[in-house]
Amino acid sequence: MIYTDEQKKNYRLKMDFNNMMKSFVGEYGISDAEISSLSNKIAKAHKAMLEKRANGKMDWRDLPHNQKDVVADIKSYVDEVKGDIDAFVVLGIGGSALGPICVQQAINHPFYNELSKEKRGGYPKLYVADNVDPERLSYLFEVIDPEKTLFNCISKSGSTSETMSQFMIIKELLEEKLGKAEAAKHIVCTTDIEKGNLIKIAKEEGYKTFIIPSGVGGRFSELTPVGLLPAAMCGIDIELMLDGAGYMDELSGNENIYENQAYMFAVLSYIALKQGKNMSVMMPYADSLKYVSDWFAQLWAESLGKKTDNDGNAVYAGQTPVKALGVTDQHSQVQLYTEGPFDKMVVLIGVDKFRRTMTIPKIYQDIPSLGFLGGVTQNKLIATEQMATEYALLKSGKANMTITLPEVNEFTLGELLYMFEVATGFAGELLNINAFDQPGVEEGKNATYAMFDRPGYEEKKKELAARPEKLEKYIIG
Ligand code: PA5
Repeated sequence: MIYTDEQKKNYRLKMDFNNMMKSFVGEYGISDAEISSLSNKIAKAHKAMLEKRANGKMDWRDLPHNQKDVVADIKSYVDEVKGDIDAFVVLGIGGSALGPICVQQAINHPFYNELSKEKRGGYPKLYVADNVDPERLSYLFEVIDPEKTLFNCISKSGSTSETMSQFMIIKELLEEKLGKAEAAKHIVCTTDIEKGNLIKIAKEEGYKTFIIPSGVGGRFSELTPVGLLPAAMCGIDIELMLDGAGYMDELSGNENIYENQAYMFAVLSYIALKQGKNMSVMMPYADSLKYVSDWFAQLWAESLGKKTDNDGNAVYAGQTPVKALGVTDQHSQVQLYTEGPFDKMVVLIGVDKFRRTMTIPKIYQDIPSLGFLGGVTQNKLIATEQMATEYALLKSGKANMTITLPEVNEFTLGELLYMFEVATGFAGELLNINAFDQPGVEEGKNATYAMFDRPGYEEKKKELAARPEKLEKYIIG
C-alpha cells in the first residue's frame, strides 16, 4: 500500500515537548535561551549530517529510497517459501535481532504465534533466538519441527560468536535430520556482501542470501533485509514501513529544529544531558510499542556511549536509556521518576487510535470506587492514565515529552524508527563523538575470542592474563 500526500500528513507523528521547558517544569527544565545558544552548534551538526550523507558515511539514510530490487527479491522469496514452513527462526543478536522483535510486536497480533496458520494469513510463526542461553535454544527445538522451519542467520560481521554458534548447532541438526542438500533449503543468511565467515559459508553451501549494505551498521540496519525479511515473512507491509521512513527522511532534512522532530529530540536530550539528566526513560503507553524501547536502548546506548570525542579527548559521553511500559510501570518505576532525583528525562509514547476497543461493563454502579469505570473504554483509561503520569511528572518538576502516533501501523512505525535514527546521528554530532562505531562492544567480543584461544587473539589473551587476581575477601559464599 502507498499513502497519498494527504494521508501521510494525517499519519505524521506529533512531538510535544512543553514539559521539557523551564516555563512548564520549572528549575530543572530547559529555557528557550539555552536552545538558541546552541544555534551555531546546531548549524554545524546539520552541515556535518549533510556532508556525511553525501560522502557515503550514513548509508542508512538512503534505505527508504534505494531498495526496490531488494524488496522485490524479499517478497518473491516469501511467496516461494511461506507455504512450506510453520516457523521462521531468526538467529541474531543486538542490531540483528532487536529490530525484527520490535516490528513484529508493533504490527502483528500480540499472540501471533498462537494463531492458526490460516489466521496468520498463511505466514509462519516467528521466533527470535538472540541469546546463547542453552535452555532457550534447546527448548525451542521442542516447539518447532525442523523440517517445517526456516532459519534466518543474521550477522553483519558474519563472525559474531553468539550467532555463529547458533548457526553451527542448527546446521548440524538440520543435516543430521534432513541430509545436506535438504538442510541447505532451511537456512537463509543475511550478511555483508564480502566480509566475515557467513558470506563465505553461504556461498559454499548454496544458501539463499540477502545482503546488508556495507555502509550500514548493525543498529541502523532494521530497514535492510535484517528487518525487512522477517517482517515480510510475517505478512508485514515492508513497502509501507519504508514509505513511512522516507516521509520522516523528508521531514528530517529541515534545518529548523522547531520543524524537525529528530533534531529537536537530539537537542533536548543533549541539553538535558548537560544538565545532569544522565538517563532517558522511554515509556510507551501501548503494549505494541513495548519493544521500541529495547530497540531504542541499543541505538542510543551503543551510538552515544563513547569514551573519546572526535578530537581524541576523553569525554565519557552517553545517556543511559531506561525501558519502561505504561501503564504497567506506573505501579513500579513511576514513584522514582516523580519523587526521585532530577537525573532523568522521560519520553512518553502515546497512540491516538488503538486498533481495538474494549469497553468496561457498566456493572457495580452501586460501588462508587468501581462504578466510575463502568461504560468507560480501556482506550480512554490508558490515554487518561498517560495524561495523569504526564501531569504527575510536571507537578514534580520532572522533564518529560510526549511523542504520539496517530495509530500504530507500518507507516507510523517506519517514521518513528527513522526519526530516532536521525536523532541519534544528530546527537552524536552535537556531542562531537562517532555515533557509528562500537569499540566497547568489540572489546567484549575480542575478550571472548581470546578466552577461547581463537587464532589471532594471542596478545589479547596475554592482556587478559595480566588482569588483577580476584581476592577471596571480596567474595561471599
Ligand atoms: O550495532 C552493532 O553494530 C552491534 O550491536 C551488532 O548489531 C551486534 O553486535 C551483532 O553484530 P553482527 O550483526 O555483526 O553479528
